[in-house]
Amino acid sequence: MTNEEMVAVGVTRFGEEPRPLRVPVRAAGAGEVLVRVAAAAVNPADVGMVAGTYPWDEPVRFPLVPGYDVAGTDAATGEPVLAFTAHKATQAGGYAEFVTLPAELVVPLPPAVDPVAAAPLPLAGLTAAQLLDAVGEAKTLLINGPGGAIGSLLAQLATERGITVVPVTEPGPVDAAVDVAGGAVARAAFDRVRDGGRYLTVVPEFWVPGGPFTGERGITPEVLAVSYDREQLAGLVARLAAGELVARVGAVLPLHEAARAHRIVGRAAGAPRVSGKVVLVPGDR
Ligand SMILES: NC(=O)c1ccc[n+]([C@@H]2O[C@H](COP(=O)([O-])OP(=O)(O)OC[C@H]3O[C@@H](n4cnc5c(N)ncnc54)[C@H](OP(=O)(O)O)[C@@H]3O)[C@@H](O)[C@H]2O)c1
Repeated sequence: MTNEEMVAVGVTRFGEEPRPLRVPVRAAGAGEVLVRVAAAAVNPADVGMVAGTYPWDEPVRFPLVPGYDVAGTDAATGEPVLAFTAHKATQAGGYAEFVTLPAELVVPLPPAVDPVAAAPLPLAGLTAAQLLDAVGEAKTLLINGPGGAIGSLLAQLATERGITVVPVTEPGPVDAAVDVAGGAVARAAFDRVRDGGRYLTVVPEFWVPGGPFTGERGITPEVLAVSYDREQLAGLVARLAAGELVARVGAVLPLHEAARAHRIVGRAAGAPRVSGKVVLVPGDR
């Protein structure tokens, strides 16, 4: 620990609204980086974290600070960085002024890249890149939420690879379909896959063996769980910096308004609909 304190946003028990808390700044140990956070993206998983439905590897340590994606600077060097917090394993959250992470999870960010524009990239970008790898040789691909974080990045990466991304409204079978939405539209996407084609989902409600529907017509539903790949993240950063990839941001809120961000991302009754990622910024930015 250092003697310093910081503002982080989190909960002291499941079910609370995330709120600003004063917590110690944990000094970086050997092989770690202390990141000064400039922007933290809000993901659907963060909403499940504070609700207590998220599947951590170990019992949760409170206060629980959510947040998978951060852009900022290495506090020791001042160099811009982007990081994936690997919350499932580290329980280190990005909704804070600082986060201490294994160096492996931190990649350089070219100084010209706005941290707000980069913050949504790690979780959604890695998931999209790994979905693309899993889709394999498909010539046509249907994504049932092409406007969402993962969906829009996957659509960009697939198009770049020469795969035709077929609109949901266009009839006809496709070689592969990716479910990023769940619910009834998951089944609808499955039904669009040609016999023997590929079907993948990333939605947590399907993380049960076989999912709620089983294979048929030579199609085996597959569940993809993202894994961290530093080289892949660095490649995504390079594309973002070159303007070849855009992670759309729909709203930028101060860190202390994380509860409002969670209502938006969690699609709470009465919350405004935001298209694109919600990004939290500490301080007065
Ligand atoms: N497996 C993994 O490793 C992994 C990794 C990251 C995320 N995830 C999961 O992947 C999912 C998507 O994440 P994301 O960050 O891309 O979320 P997001 O930005 O909120 O995108 C979700 C997309 O799904 C669409 N959608 C949601 N409900 C729908 C419905 N009932 N009917 C039609 N479309 C619907 C949304 O469309 P509209 O906005 O137009 O409604 C949006 O395009 C989440 O469940 C998240 O927890 C899984």
